[in-house]
Amino acid sequence: MKTQPLIRIVYASRATPECMANLSENIEQILASAIGNNRPKGITGLLIAHRGWFLQALEGPTDEVHQLFKHICADRRHRDATVLGECAIQIREFGLWSMCARQLSPTDALILGELDRRPTFEPANFPERAVMRLLRTVAGVHKLSLTQQQGLASA
Ligand SMILES: Cc1cc2nc3c(=O)[nH]c(=O)nc-3n(C[C@H](O)[C@H](O)[C@H](O)COP(=O)(O)O)c2cc1C
Repeated sequence: MKTQPLIRIVYASRATPECMANLSENIEQILASAIGNNRPKGITGLLIAHRGWFLQALEGPTDEVHQLFKHICADRRHRDATVLGECAIQIREFGLWSMCARQLSPTDALILGELDRRPTFEPANFPERAVMRLLRTVAGVHKLSLTQQQGLASA
C-alpha cells in the first residue's frame, strides 16, 4: 500500500463564550476525543488555548488531516477557524502526542509575551512562523515536564 505524504495544518479559531465558560472541561473532552480518534489515523499535534483563542497544529497523512480539520471546523465550541499555514512535512514536530492540549499558564503566557510583543493577542493575523515558534516552545516545555515526571516516576 502506498503511504500518503504527511502534511501539517496550523490554524487559529475563537472559542465561543459557552466554551469559555467551561474551558477546562471542554479541553478535557476535546482531548479525550482526540486521543481516541487521532492515533488510529496517524495524526499527531498540539492544541493550545489562550485568551479566548485556540491554536492547533494537526500533522499526519494528507487525507486524514483534511478530513479531521473539516470535522473540527464544524464543532460549535469554536468559530472563525483561520488556516495560518498548510505544508508538506518530512518530519513531525509534535510526534510525541496524538494530541497534547494545554491551556496556557501564566508561565507560558510569559513565554508568549517574549515571543510576540504585540499588545493584543490576535493569532488569526499572526504569521505561521510566529505561531509555530509558540507551539514549538510550548511543546518543548511540555516535553521537559513530561520527561521530568517520567524521571521522577522511575527514580
Ligand atoms: C479546537 C478544537 C480542536 C479539536 N481537536 C480535535 C482533534 O484533534 N481530534 C479529534 O478527534 N477531535 C478534535 N476536536 C473535537 C471534534 O470537533 C469532535 O467534537 C470530536 O472529534 C468528536 O466527534 P464525534 O462526536 O463526531 O465523534 C476538537 C475540537 C475543537 C473545538
